[in-house]
Amino acid sequence: MRNSSSTPSVSSRRSFLAASGVALTGLAGSAAGQPPAAPPPRPAAPSGVPDKGPQIGDDHRGPCVIASGNGPNATARAFEVMSAGVDPSEAVVAGVKLVEDDPNDTSVGYGGLPNEEGVVELDASVMHGPTHKAGAVAGLRNIKNPAAVALRVLQRTDHVLLVGDGALRFARAQGFKEENLLTPESHAAWLRWRESMGADDWLNPEERDWPRPGRKSLEEFLAEEQRQSRVPGDGEPIPFTWGTIHCSAVNASGDVGSCTTTSGLSWKIPGRVGDSPIVGAGMYCENAVGAAGSTGRGESLIVNCGAFSIVQFMASGMSPTQACLAALKRIADNTLEKRLRNERGRPNFNASVYALRKDGAYGGACLYPGGSFAVTTSDGVTKVHPCVPLFDAM
Ligand code: GLY
Repeated sequence: MRNSSSTPSVSSRRSFLAASGVALTGLAGSAAGQPPAAPPPRPAAPSGVPDKGPQIGDDHRGPCVIASGNGPNATARAFEVMSAGVDPSEAVVAGVKLVEDDPNDTSVGYGGLPNEEGVVELDASVMHGPTHKAGAVAGLRNIKNPAAVALRVLQRTDHVLLVGDGALRFARAQGFKEENLLTPESHAAWLRWRESMGADDWLNPEERDWPRPGRKSLEEFLAEEQRQSRVPGDGEPIPFTWGTIHCSAVNASGDVGSCTTTSGLSWKIPGRVGDSPIVGAGMYCENAVGAAGSTGRGESLIVNCGAFSIVQFMASGMSPTQACLAALKRIADNTLEKRLRNERGRPNFNASVYALRKDGAYGGACLYPGGSFAVTTSDGVTKVHPCVPLFDAM
């Protein structure tokens, strides 16, 4: 699973920028001649939200793309596309496509972990700052790139959210190709999960008499014979994810766009929809303020209007990191169900959130250490940074 990678990754797009004549030094002098408003002074943190001091991204100005930690390739690609003049809302869709197409990311698109019936169901949303319009799909089957379908909802319909069979029929009508989204690895992981449930008719490895002692199984024989890629065996751990990719961008004119795409909670009840396609939960933007998005336990982000809260906190003058921490504090304070709290009364799950202000300042925060975010800054350099944790430990 690569949805929570914290390995630093750096790539330079300077040569591209030099070739394309993109300004490297912030928003001033943008082609559209609409420099974003000066950043507000840094206010004191609201009650109960720890003031973690100055953070990476506070002082950044100019074009920028931010994503969850699994998205350094996505931010680099989105920045490249945006620098060529493409709208930020379309650029982020081009960026996340790389992760949707990647069979090794088990939280998004092709290779995403399926629902409890072994069927991959994808959620995605996109928002366009200048028109404040959004498009989204939920529970979409058989289409590898739900973010691109969400963009078509935004651009070619009067609606915001299409679900299930209606979303699939719309995607077909728009010319998207249907394909099997299970990889051999995600199918094998689902089988291991299904067989581990116990107390039903699916036999787990201990309950089975196969393969026979000293015998090679037919499956192993065929795998060797066909030289197939290795599929995880029975003894390997069962993966689990709420993983997702979020990506937001601001261009030199201060226009913002935002996108989140996911296969959602692994082994979910068919039809379960997370925060990712919910405008204001998994992503949100306002062109006068900035953009935000989330990854992690979707149910908690929905009931706390996660991404909307972050943008509102930025509108009140908080830095992107402060705004993220304030939204996470709201989630922690509103986690009241006993089964979701640990012995310290804190959430027993993690969530990460990301924010990008109109002037280019950016930041990311998580409930507990472990989250990370990718960013491509105005100099075209891509890096992965740790999110600032609200709490130091669970
Ligand atoms: N954040 C992704 C989900 O809960 O579906």
